[in-house]
Amino acid sequence: MTMKIRGTGSSLPEKAVSNDDLAKIMDTSDEWIRSRTGIGSRHIAVNETTTSMSVDAAQKALADAKMGAEELDLIIVASISTDQCLPSTACEVQAAIGAVNAVAFDINAACSGFLFGLSVANAYFAAGTYEKALVIGAETLSKMMDWNDRGTCVLFGDGAGAAVVEKSDIGLISMIQQSDGTRGGVLSCRNRPVNNPYVQNDTALAFTKMDGQEVYKFAVRTVPKAVSQVLEKGNVSADEVKYFILHQANIRIIDSVAKRLSQPLDKFPTNLQTCGNISAGSVPILLDYVNREGMLMRGDKIVLAGFGAGLTWGAALLVW
Ligand code: UT7
Repeated sequence: MTMKIRGTGSSLPEKAVSNDDLAKIMDTSDEWIRSRTGIGSRHIAVNETTTSMSVDAAQKALADAKMGAEELDLIIVASISTDQCLPSTACEVQAAIGAVNAVAFDINAACSGFLFGLSVANAYFAAGTYEKALVIGAETLSKMMDWNDRGTCVLFGDGAGAAVVEKSDIGLISMIQQSDGTRGGVLSCRNRPVNNPYVQNDTALAFTKMDGQEVYKFAVRTVPKAVSQVLEKGNVSADEVKYFILHQANIRIIDSVAKRLSQPLDKFPTNLQTCGNISAGSVPILLDYVNREGMLMRGDKIVLAGFGAGLTWGAALLVW
């Protein structure tokens, strides 16, 4: 394999909204949200945008990597909540940070987006096309929520995480991605409908819809399998892994994965308590936290795993 992470960065909106704050504007409670999900608060964009947080996270990741923006030859932004259809967020990031030599584009793989972005960068490295990339997962999910649907809006938050990755002989050990479009209906958000002089369609905004229990079942079955697959592929045992950095959807999902892998919960760092679920942003924001807290030493093995809409899922085993 051919990739290592050289630096990380993240960016969260200034406004933190607690469960008690939400209970003032809808029929919910801290007790319900905390006991069902583990979430205590989340950051909600007021002045921030998907692009502004991506740029902030990117600059921090470059500083951490001690790399100049002009050294980058690739920028990938994974997002389901870009600010506009075009130009892409990645092109906006390129312009804002001065990455004049980079090719830039967005991808959509929902909560697996950061993992899928890493795999695209890795494929370019393996092909010899590019050598230094910025992979970002960034979301402003608050604008895609039906704030009258207490079953979904309390779960999600806004934010961005970034990693500078480069071609290397050591780093990535193994990686998998998978998709199952036949089950896409369990978590969806419609874009603009077809609408032109020949078709009249209502253009009312659509919001995120989720069958929580189906997504829950999918996650607890699929994530342990995906993690086991990358471990097997890399010939590494779960006991050798220092941290499992999972998509932050629900503490009960993380508990269940830990049990199925027979691993102690303290190997599963979390930030969903203060961030909620940030889709493509969850994994890189948590990775940045773990990196900045000094929790990782060179040589430590870590697993990253994402899962979500599509359905999509992916995992990666890396040496730090
Ligand atoms: O990125 C991946 C995306 N998402 C996920 O991974 C989510 C996976 N799913 C889950 O985490 C859980 O299914 C949820 C946390 C979303 C829901 O938990 P649940 O135990 O499946 O609850 P439920 O949807 O079955 O709802 C139980 C009750 C219902 O009331 P009744 O019908 O039993 O009277 C809901 O109306 O809880 C009610 N409810 C709420 N009550 C207070 C739903 N949302 C809320 C709320 N506050 N926010």
